[in-house]
Amino acid sequence: MVNTAILIYTIALWLAYATASLSFDRSHLQRGHSIAPHPPFKPFPQTHPRTKTCKVKSHGDGSDDSHFILSALEKCNHGGRVVFSSDETYTIGAPLDLTFLDKVDIVIDGEIIFTNDTDYWQENSFKFDFQDSTTFFKLGGHDVNVYGDGEINGNGQAWYDLFASNKTILRPILIGIFGLEGGTIGPLKLRYSPMWYIWVSDSQDVIFDGIDITGFSNNKNTAKNTDGWDTYRSDNIVIQNSVINNGDDCVSFKPNSTNVLVQNLHCNGSHGISVGSLGQYIGVTDIVENVLVSNVAMSNASDGARIKVWPGADPTSTATDVGGGGGYVRNITYDGMTVSNVDYAIEITQCYMQKNFTACSLTTASLIIEDIWFKNFSGTTSSKYGEVVGTLVCSSPDVCNEIYAENISVVSTAGTDLYTCYNIDESELGLECEAP
Ligand SMILES: *[C@@H]1O[C@H](CO)[C@@H](O)[C@H](O)[C@H]1NC(C)=O
Ligand SMILES: *[C@@H]1O[C@H](CO)[C@@H](O)[C@H](O)[C@H]1NC(C)=O
Ligand SMILES: *[C@@H]1O[C@H](CO)[C@@H](O)[C@H](O)[C@H]1NC(C)=O
Ligand SMILES: *[C@@H]1O[C@H](CO)[C@@H](O)[C@H](O)[C@H]1NC(C)=O
Ligand SMILES: *[C@@H]1O[C@H](CO)[C@@H](O)[C@H](O)[C@H]1NC(C)=O
Ligand SMILES: *[C@@H]1O[C@H](CO)[C@@H](O)[C@H](O)[C@H]1NC(C)=O
Ligand SMILES: *[C@@H]1O[C@H](CO)[C@@H](O)[C@H](O)[C@H]1NC(C)=O
Ligand SMILES: *[C@@H]1O[C@H](CO)[C@@H](O)[C@H](O)[C@H]1NC(C)=O
Ligand SMILES: *[C@@H]1O[C@H](CO)[C@@H](O)[C@H](O)[C@H]1NC(C)=O
Repeated sequence: MVNTAILIYTIALWLAYATASLSFDRSHLQRGHSIAPHPPFKPFPQTHPRTKTCKVKSHGDGSDDSHFILSALEKCNHGGRVVFSSDETYTIGAPLDLTFLDKVDIVIDGEIIFTNDTDYWQENSFKFDFQDSTTFFKLGGHDVNVYGDGEINGNGQAWYDLFASNKTILRPILIGIFGLEGGTIGPLKLRYSPMWYIWVSDSQDVIFDGIDITGFSNNKNTAKNTDGWDTYRSDNIVIQNSVINNGDDCVSFKPNSTNVLVQNLHCNGSHGISVGSLGQYIGVTDIVENVLVSNVAMSNASDGARIKVWPGADPTSTATDVGGGGGYVRNITYDGMTVSNVDYAIEITQCYMQKNFTACSLTTASLIIEDIWFKNFSGTTSSKYGEVVGTLVCSSPDVCNEIYAENISVVSTAGTDLYTCYNIDESELGLECEAP
């Protein structure tokens, strides 16, 4: 008896030790080992050993520490670990180009905060063509892991306040990932982003695991456009086990996002998990293909699952940015979503930004929507749309194919489950449809 107890105790101790050392030293882990329950679309490249450690210095008085960060990263790049200590606050007051990273872990145990000098950042942030995006820093390279018990704070209040009086200001995205090949980001806390929290651009094989996002305005100037993630021109991305409290898309798949797995998210206050908007610009091809979104709790949101596509170009218009772009949205599955106080559980539109669906159907979209699955949805909407709990609007049945729903039990507060359907094969869909 005693021996068995000692044996069990020893095994327990060994397990605790093994688990602790694994979570401390991630470099010995094969990247992608923790992707579950669904496997990723593609395998992930391995992460290499880290053999040196550099501590980042801090002035500790609110003055800019960015040069300390840069020098630690330069010193410990190519196989090291750069540590932000738990008892320090690091201030960033200058843009950091971190696209040279290679085989490095960034361990954030302390707090990193960006200065709130809105004039300075508008002048000096990194600028990108896509939707006039700007970022505080850009992080890219090969085999980079970013994690820790600390947080990254965008000091967003000054931005929320300024944006309330001037809509043309350029608010920086908190985390700009640009050209990263092989990375694991998280666990990590992100707070008070001025704009989107995470932008993943021109990257592949990146895992986000254990991201904790929150940051509400402390006054009536709400924190707008605070998307959780936006993926763009990126392939084989995983987003999982995260909690998002924000004020715009929880996750958004922008043009040329392929092979994206999203699972085990808790989204509150968002605009849902969105594909698009796509097809806005004539002559441009947008592709979103192979996306699986599974096991999501969606609360206090305008939408649950959403696909937004612009209609075809209006032949009488000279504008080039109100639809008519080509491409496709293909093989998108939403499996397992629980909604609570959500306006539309499901929304597909191929008439984005159009009020007149008859007019929209005269300009068939050039961007095809096909092979879309909605499975295992439950919960209650906000009843903003009365008895209607979802909407599926296509510009023509010719460009909206194979859209299926299965085991959907979402109801309005009145207990109804009506959907607005237009130009879509209702027999295939299998939802309770009414005309718009
Ligand atoms: C900017 O941050 C400082 C502290 O870091 C604070 O004292 C000041 O009020 C903030 N400015 C604005 C406009 O929010
Ligand atoms: C709004 O912000 C833009 C960009 O910073 C600036 O050029 C413009 O002068 C501002 N407008 C006002 C009315 O302050
Ligand atoms: C997206 O991919 C298509 C097809 O490869 C390409 O024509 C288009 O230029 C890409 N878009 C962007 C923004 O890179
Ligand atoms: C969820 O979002 C609502 C706003 O829609 C907010 O009032 C509430 O505090 C959020 N909950 C949490 C846990 O942050
Ligand atoms: C479509 O997506 C599913 C995941 O939902 C994936 O298993 C499948 O391989 C994808 N199909 C193709 C043709 O890539
Ligand atoms: C939704 O919002 C309400 C009111 O703001 C809040 O009490 C509730 O906790 C929110 N739900 C979640 C899951 O955060
Ligand atoms: C969803 O439903 C399918 C059957 O349509 C089932 O095989 C699958 O396991 C379900 N997924 C979840 C998350 O319940
Ligand atoms: C909607 O568009 C159609 C076709 O262009 C037009 O006949 C109709 O008058 C429009 N309806 C409204 C309410 O504008
Ligand atoms: C239907 O979806 C619910 C979750 O909403 C799930 O618990 C149940 O197993 C699903 N049923 C089938 C037959 O897939």
